[in-house]
Amino acid sequence: MKIIIINGPNLNLLGKRENDIYGDETFNDFFEKLQLKFPKVELSQFQSNIEGELIDKIQEIGYSYDGIILNAAAYTHTSVGIADAAKAIPAPVVEVHISNTFSREDFRHKSYIAPNAKGVIVGFGLQSYELALQSFLK
Ligand code: DQA
Repeated sequence: MKIIIINGPNLNLLGKRENDIYGDETFNDFFEKLQLKFPKVELSQFQSNIEGELIDKIQEIGYSYDGIILNAAAYTHTSVGIADAAKAIPAPVVEVHISNTFSREDFRHKSYIAPNAKGVIVGFGLQSYELALQSFLK
């Protein structure tokens, strides 16, 4: 099973960004542990701060992977382009957020991606990614 985690803007700063909200673990440290926990899954990751690069990646892998775990970060709340890409491809997309976006500012309550996602996992810290991964193994 081939699954990719796609992370959007500022998620490269995990571990040193607003630690009270996003925790103090780097994504790479978390990702290494996740790979060890799920050795049978061909798990990869991609991060970009650039909207078009995220769309390119979704298009590139969307016809050959079994699933996408997508944290589009701030673009969740703004990007029709990423939402359209998620809708265009056959690979199922699970939207994740580290923080509980519904307990934060109003502008974070809107997701353009959610209507085109298989499901949404919000607010469990980095464990949100693991829960999303488990959803593909069912
Ligand atoms: C986030 C929530 C977004 O509102 C925010 O812009 C992020 C991270 C999360 O994982 O909690 O950058 O997607």
